[in-house]
Amino acid sequence: MSNTAVCPGSFDPPTEGHINIVERGLKIFDKIIVVVAVNSTKKNTFTAQERVAMLREIFKNRSEIEIDSFQDSLLVDYARKKKVGTILRGLRTIADYDFEFQMALANKKLAPEVETVFMMTESQNSHISSSLIKEILTLGGQAGDMVPAIVEKKFREKLKGK
Ligand code: COA
Repeated sequence: MSNTAVCPGSFDPPTEGHINIVERGLKIFDKIIVVVAVNSTKKNTFTAQERVAMLREIFKNRSEIEIDSFQDSLLVDYARKKKVGTILRGLRTIADYDFEFQMALANKKLAPEVETVFMMTESQNSHISSSLIKEILTLGGQAGDMVPAIVEKKFREKLKGK
């Protein structure tokens, strides 16, 4: 297995918090596959294609970052298919811990050869979440440095279209 990690998420939309984890992850891994996990029963603001397109724009010209997606299947099956042995996730606060711990243990049970690695979110990102950003933008606030400009632009286009 190569020194590659998969960094999965809903990315609805991607935030500076996600980007920071990927950038710092590249100090440890030679390559990171940022993968949009699509759950067709979940109601998302952005389609899978839109989320993938935003991530491709954010990480354009970065050969060490691949953007991909998978739908209605297990993350560990995706990792096995890509022959990747590490899952990279960010941890913000203690509130993330229970959920992440549960997922890491379940994934370990399903695929013992796949390890989960956590990186602590940097303090300037610990308050960020995708839903918080959507609420701020919907209510007329400025997302500032919480999301890349492309994400703010795409969200505003969505709001106008409603
Ligand atoms: N900084 C700031 N915010 C962050 C962050 C960071 N480093 N990392 C995550 N977040 C926020 C996101 O903005 C998002 O906010 P929201 O809850 O307001 O939307 C939230 O944390 C979680 O988002 P994200 O990391 O994008 O995705 P997720 O928690 O929905 O991802 C999967 C979960 C995709 C990893 C998981 O559902 C999965 O593996 N699915 C595949 C199916 C499967 O294998 N299931 C069994 C798992 S045991």
